[in-house]
Amino acid sequence: MAQVIYGSEVSKDIRSELSEQIAALRASGRRMPKLAVILVGENPASLSYVTGKEKACTQVGMESELIKLPASTSQEELMAVVRRLNADPNVDGILCQLPLPDGLDSAQVIREIRPDKDVDGFHPINVGKLHLKEDGFVPCTPLGCMELLHRMGINPAGKRAVVLGRSNLVGAPVARLLLNENATVTICHSKTENLPQVCAEADILIAAVGRAKMVTADYVKEGAAVIDVGINRSAEGKLVGDVDFASVEPKAGFITPVPKGVGPMTITMLLKNTLKAYRQHEG
Ligand code: GUN
Repeated sequence: MAQVIYGSEVSKDIRSELSEQIAALRASGRRMPKLAVILVGENPASLSYVTGKEKACTQVGMESELIKLPASTSQEELMAVVRRLNADPNVDGILCQLPLPDGLDSAQVIREIRPDKDVDGFHPINVGKLHLKEDGFVPCTPLGCMELLHRMGINPAGKRAVVLGRSNLVGAPVARLLLNENATVTICHSKTENLPQVCAEADILIAAVGRAKMVTADYVKEGAAVIDVGINRSAEGKLVGDVDFASVEPKAGFITPVPKGVGPMTITMLLKNTLKAYRQHEG
């Protein structure tokens, strides 16, 4: 049976470390770190994510500001909001919740965010830095995956890692992080042939495809570490991952559940990135 690694528990430890660091800043009378979150439109999933991010800021004693804009917001209005936040010396991190409503260009918005405030790590400057192994901001979900691997006691160096999914948000950056830690990395996607066999070679398997319970035991090598990034709704309306937990748990060495796995880690890494931005701003 696999050891189940709860991101919710790992998150608690990291958030209490962050709380202590922020309490120390407060005690010394310093300005507080601040995250600004932009939400455009009424997407209920986005609203729930954004609420979670704000709550987490409050929990660790960080400031946050939610800028809610109507779905009718124009590109230029949205860009103006980003520019205002770029110029605000009290704002350390800026996050524009994706996806944006139809008609708005997210790539253009991301490019407008100052790279030193881009706590999502989506700006091309930060994407480039990740690939050059330079210090910058790394997207939160991939960072959370790596933190969970480390907490499993796994050093990726020399290991076979397979990443299922090649999105800019998760698949591509997590593959690069694994490579940066000297894993031998394979990225699989919808055109990959013999998918289960390729996955079954992995010592580390990261599932980030967005297909409910797609990864079954035949995709998994005995004793592998399986990290499930998927957040899907089952036919019954339950939250399920990309991994068929019941089928994979007996075979894997480590596995993350959904919910309470990678999800809470994403927000925790956002807090960590915001504190990092703050420290850079404060010198
Ligand atoms: N939508 C889903 N995940 C994310 C994320 O990590 N950052 C942003 N900005 N939008 C998202």
